[in-house]
Amino acid sequence: MTQALPKVIIHGGAGSSHGHKDRLVALREDLHSIVMQVYSKAAAGASARDCVVLGCQLMEDSPQYNAGYGSVLQSDGQVRMSAGLMDGEAQRFSGIINVSRVRHPIDLAAYLQPFPDRVLSDLGAAELAREMGLPPFDPITDLRLKEWMAERANNFQSTMAGVVAEAVEVPAGSESRRGTIGVVVLDTNGHLAAGTSTGGKGLERLGRVSDSATVAGNYANSVAAVSCTGIGEDIIDECLAARIVVRVTDGMAMATALEKSFAEATEHGRDFGAIALSQRGEIAWGKTSEVLIAAYHTGEVVGDTLELNSGTLTGVV
Ligand code: GLY
Repeated sequence: MTQALPKVIIHGGAGSSHGHKDRLVALREDLHSIVMQVYSKAAAGASARDCVVLGCQLMEDSPQYNAGYGSVLQSDGQVRMSAGLMDGEAQRFSGIINVSRVRHPIDLAAYLQPFPDRVLSDLGAAELAREMGLPPFDPITDLRLKEWMAERANNFQSTMAGVVAEAVEVPAGSESRRGTIGVVVLDTNGHLAAGTSTGGKGLERLGRVSDSATVAGNYANSVAAVSCTGIGEDIIDECLAARIVVRVTDGMAMATALEKSFAEATEHGRDFGAIALSQRGEIAWGKTSEVLIAAYHTGEVVGDTLELNSGTLTGVV
């Protein structure tokens, strides 16, 4: 098979603002560093799936994002994380829903790939972590705890904790922003994969299921792959990832598929963003939110979406 130039795109959330200029500089540095590490692995010949897992692990390790370490707390003050992984070549989805006390939720989703039961939640997720021999890990940061305590003091007036990544500590009580993470890769064999990991919306009621471990939030086949970020219920209502992938698979150009999907989303008042790759090597993104925190590697240059205009926009590189 002809070796293709690998492509990588990652996201760290979508929402209303990434705030101060210093935050933008730090976020850019972090995103570019991660996208380059993932690209190096892909350029060395690793599979799209392994590259996606690496990218998700790196972002789960960073407290800037709402995934793994630094995840937001739910209404009862606990962290429960979810992750989805889809191997486009095998067209196989696996996922973990509302898992606690693990460092890398994406590892549990990856472990499930070959099994007949591939999406586990709550008790099953805890049992799986034990089966995998994962050491208990506390993902709660002081900042997240302070934010939750401020919400508690305010009688939980907010309906959710926010969705955009933050690069610097925000003072307790101020509006905080953080984001779900996602990674999409086209490998040197021309195979695609997508992975998404999240701490959820924050302050949600017990048992709420995020879009990230569903095909609405994370979907791939041999033609296209998509990872979403933003309000999970909006993403599920649009069936966003699968919608874009199916449109491209049925012959629509990636640019048109995104324009159409995001025009519909705007009409429906949705708040989210998505990153995408096609087998042809098109790197793409779209958002209805003001900000989409994403970075990509084209094989030649690294770019990002940090300073786009607010409102609905789509782009293909
Ligand atoms: N998109 C993450 C969530 O709503 O759970």
